[in-house]
Amino acid sequence: MRPQPALALAGLCLLALPAAAASYFGLTGREVLTPFPGLGTAAAPAQGGAHLKQCDLLKLSRRQKQLCRREPGLAETLRDAAHLGLLECQFQFRHERWNCSLEGRTGLLKRGFKETAFLYAVSSAALTHTLARACSAGRMERCTCDDSPGLESRQAWQWGVCGDNLKYSTKFLSNFLGSKRGNKDLRARADAHNTHVGIKAVKSGLRTTCKCHGVSGSCAVRTCWKQLSPFRETGQVLKLRYDSAVKVSSATNEALGRLELWAPSRQGSPTKGLAPRSGDLVYMEDSPSFCRPSKYSPGTAGRVCSREASCSSLCCGRGYDTQSRLVAFSCHCQVQWCCYVECQQCVQEELVYTCKH
Ligand SMILES: *[C@@H]1O[C@H](CO)[C@@H](O)[C@H](O)[C@H]1NC(C)=O
Repeated sequence: MRPQPALALAGLCLLALPAAAASYFGLTGREVLTPFPGLGTAAAPAQGGAHLKQCDLLKLSRRQKQLCRREPGLAETLRDAAHLGLLECQFQFRHERWNCSLEGRTGLLKRGFKETAFLYAVSSAALTHTLARACSAGRMERCTCDDSPGLESRQAWQWGVCGDNLKYSTKFLSNFLGSKRGNKDLRARADAHNTHVGIKAVKSGLRTTCKCHGVSGSCAVRTCWKQLSPFRETGQVLKLRYDSAVKVSSATNEALGRLELWAPSRQGSPTKGLAPRSGDLVYMEDSPSFCRPSKYSPGTAGRVCSREASCSSLCCGRGYDTQSRLVAFSCHCQVQWCCYVECQQCVQEELVYTCKH
């Protein structure tokens, strides 16, 4: 089994923990992702002492370890969340020079780039999402169905339909990540801010779904429950935030006597500087080009690109190689009496472009 630090790193960043090895979550990269409650391998909470052992394997603070031990199923949820966050990051950055391949390249997490900001946000979003799902699937012992007041949710509860428990998971998450008091440095402030952007993105994607019951769908009785939007949508939102991320510096708030994030004024704004909006991703340093291998990325050599759309920017002006390959597809299809379609297999040449070294 080849360890895959990338997955551990997504978790690492999500928890803002000190450097750790791949054994962190014991990931192999072949874990079954369980985006839907009740499907996949993680359906049952770890039995007996197994989860205590898993918590000990995680490099957590003492308080976090306590929370983990008290919460069967949490270690698995952390692992699932790391996987979900990483897959989404790789999807969203599939056409970018930096394609979210973290394997062996940990430098990025210690910097203040836009990419670092995205990683923090997507990680906390993935954890919020996964935790809420785990709650409503009954995989966590200490959280039950969303007990927010209101007839609708009580009805939903009676019908045995349980909303994704977002309230519990955000509360748990802020408790778990903790809020250290005192004069945090700029990096810590920015990380905390970006983490919060991720949580908020999941929260604002919450939808109420209703189902009608009664004679032939007369809707005499209606059951409603809250539902998380698909994580892909959250990923898209965060990618847009990445595209419009705000560069910040620090300023000491005299009244509060602590460091605050400070964004240069937006166009047309009369003030000299502003606190970044709560939905903005913030960064402190301009990113490297990611063209050549470095401690931040493997570079773009060998990346497949589209000649019309991405080769010129992706290949950083080095040019691209063209290869042809044959692809099979169905053709000359005819409807046969009765009732199926018969096709032939045709072969077509397709050109593949890859960035030069
Ligand atoms: C990212 O790009 C590198 C080449 O620069 C490639 O080896 C790697 O497989 C890519 N990762 C993903 C997730 O596409």
